[in-house]
Amino acid sequence: MSTSILGEGEIARCLEVARETAREAGALAQRGRHEGIAIENKGEVDLVTDCDHRCEALVIERLSKAFPDHHIVGEEGGGGAQSDVGDQPVWYVDPIDGTTNFAHGMPWYAVSLGLEQGGVRLCGAVYVPENGWEFHARRGCGAYLGEHRLFVSKTPDLDRALVATGFGYDRRRTPDNNLDEFRAVLLRCQGMRRIGVASIDLAMVARGWLDAYWEIKLSPWDISAGALLVQEAGGRVSGLDGADLDSRNGYTVASNGKFHDELIAILQRVRAEREAGA
Ligand code: IPD
Ligand code: CA
Ligand code: CA
Repeated sequence: MSTSILGEGEIARCLEVARETAREAGALAQRGRHEGIAIENKGEVDLVTDCDHRCEALVIERLSKAFPDHHIVGEEGGGGAQSDVGDQPVWYVDPIDGTTNFAHGMPWYAVSLGLEQGGVRLCGAVYVPENGWEFHARRGCGAYLGEHRLFVSKTPDLDRALVATGFGYDRRRTPDNNLDEFRAVLLRCQGMRRIGVASIDLAMVARGWLDAYWEIKLSPWDISAGALLVQEAGGRVSGLDGADLDSRNGYTVASNGKFHDELIAILQRVRAEREAGA
């Protein structure tokens, strides 16, 4: 069965619902953080809390009620599987992006909701509950923080760039853990940050507070909404090969576009050297 492409009016409504739902889930997470959370290990260093599950259940309930024909892929498994998506609209849901921060009581975490169809990012909302930041974007209509239109920075080169990255949860088990890349970029840029929340990293590139961000093993729920923010703020998002980012690819490079190829060249070189030495 073929599915029709969502029209502009429908996408606008999707974004309205996403923003409202992200605020509601964010408020739930915030309450949980103050009332006390139950923490479990999904892996060696990969945590999940009862709030992740409750926020995801809330988001899925709201989205499936508003859009019964849409597919939902949630990090905690409450939605359907990526393999069933086809050409249906699909929501990528990260109920709490930055769970490690959240579990440690740090106020840096976000609810990230991105809508795609046929691999095209249509709209997205990234809500940071603890300071009420509401980042949102709709394809072709710009990226915003609340009512404030966002534009990427004008930093011209890597030498003067503030760059962020992150490290996947398999980092103890593989040399392909971004540490070589981290060292190489750190020695070339003005400063490095590890915020611990991929969606906020991307939102900060869109806002121009960061000049670039990369990470090597992300999931669509980490990046779908944030990548659209960067695109709509005039930046560039790609994979390691420099081609336009497919949210399902994992490797994500985002920047203001001024030194993207230079950053990619470093990341490619480091990977090639590691593979040659392996
Ligand atoms: C993680 C965060 C982190 C990034 C990890 C992600 P989670 O998401 O976005 O910044 O480095 O790769 O998995 O587990 O907190 O939702
Ligand atoms: Ca995440
Ligand atoms: Ca998460």
